[in-house]
Amino acid sequence: MAPPVAIVTGASSGIGLALTHHLLARNWAVVMADLNAPKESLANTLFIQTDIASWAAQAALFAQAHAWHGRLDFFAANAGIDDRDDIFHSLDPTTPPKQPNMQTLEVNLMGTYYGIKLAAHYMTVPSAAAGKPRPGGKIVVTASAAGIYPLPSVPQYAASKHALVGLVRSLGPGAAAVDIRINALCPALVATGLAPPGLMANFDPAQVTPMSTMMAGFEALAGLEGVGGEGWVARGRSGEVVEGNLGELVWHEPPTRPEASSYMDEKGLEDWARTYRERNRNFAKEDWMKQM
Ligand SMILES: NC(=O)c1ccc[n+]([C@@H]2O[C@H](COP(=O)([O-])OP(=O)(O)OC[C@H]3O[C@@H](n4cnc5c(N)ncnc54)[C@H](O)[C@@H]3O)[C@@H](O)[C@H]2O)c1
Repeated sequence: MAPPVAIVTGASSGIGLALTHHLLARNWAVVMADLNAPKESLANTLFIQTDIASWAAQAALFAQAHAWHGRLDFFAANAGIDDRDDIFHSLDPTTPPKQPNMQTLEVNLMGTYYGIKLAAHYMTVPSAAAGKPRPGGKIVVTASAAGIYPLPSVPQYAASKHALVGLVRSLGPGAAAVDIRINALCPALVATGLAPPGLMANFDPAQVTPMSTMMAGFEALAGLEGVGGEGWVARGRSGEVVEGNLGELVWHEPPTRPEASSYMDEKGLEDWARTYRERNRNFAKEDWMKQM
C-alpha cells in the first residue's frame, strides 16, 4: 500500500523543511516543492523545482506529485516571501513612480490560491487503489501573525497574509462539504531564512517562537498522526486560524459582525449563496485564457 502523500511548498528551508522532517518521522512520503533544491538529500521525498507564482509550474507539480504514489492526502501551502516594494519611504517629488513590483502578492496570495485549487482536484480523485480509503484531504496555509495584526515594515506582506486569513475562513465550509479541511497557521517570529540577514539579531531571543510551536500548530490543524483511517478527514476542523506565538497556540475567531449582516452567513440567505455558487461554477469552467 502506498504511504500517505504530502506536498510542502517552500520545503527547502525554515518552516517547510522542519515540517518535511516532521512528516517523514510519521511515515509520510513528501513532495518538496521549492525554487531551490534542499541542501540535504532525504529518503521518501521527491524534490520538484517549482515557482508557485506560476500556474503552469504548480499544475505540473501536482500532476507529478499525484502520479508518484497515486494519491494526495495533505498540502502545506507554505512558501512565502517578504516585501519587494516601498511606497512612503521612497517618495521622490521629481519623478513619478514606476509600476511597482507586486511579487509578494503574486507568490503569497496568487501562488497559494493556485495550490489550493490544484490540491482540491487531486485530493478528490478516487485513489482506493493506492490505499486511500476515501477522497478528501487536509490543507494548511502558512499565513502569519501579520495576517492578523498590521506590520508596517512589510505592508504588501501583511496585505497578502490578511488575504490568506480571509481566504481560509471563507473557503472552510465549502472545503468541508467535499471532505477537505483547510486551515491557517499564523507564525509569530520564527528564526528562518525569511528575514533579511542580520534582522533577527536585533530581536530579544525571548521574542522568538520555537519551531516546535509551528509543528504543534500543524498537528492541531491537520492531525498528521494516524492518517488514512476512515475518520481522518472527518475529525478535522475547517476555516480555523491559529497563531503560533512562543510556546502557545492562540485561536483567532473572526470579528463579531453586526446582527444586520447575517446575509454574510451562507445559512442566512441560501438563495444568495446558491446564486453565487452557480455563477462562479460556470466561471470556473470557462476557458477564459483562450478568450483574451
Ligand atoms: N519566519 C517567520 O518569522 C515567519 C512568520 C510568519 C509567517 N511566516 C511564513 O512562513 C512561511 C515559510 O517561511 P520561512 O519563515 O520558513 O522562510 P524561508 O525563507 O526559510 O523558507 C521559505 C522557502 O520558500 C521558498 N520560496 C520562496 N518563493 C518561492 C516560490 N515562488 N515558489 C516556491 N518556493 C518559494 C524559498 O526558496 C524558501 O526555501 C512563509 O509563508 C512565511 O511568510 C514566517
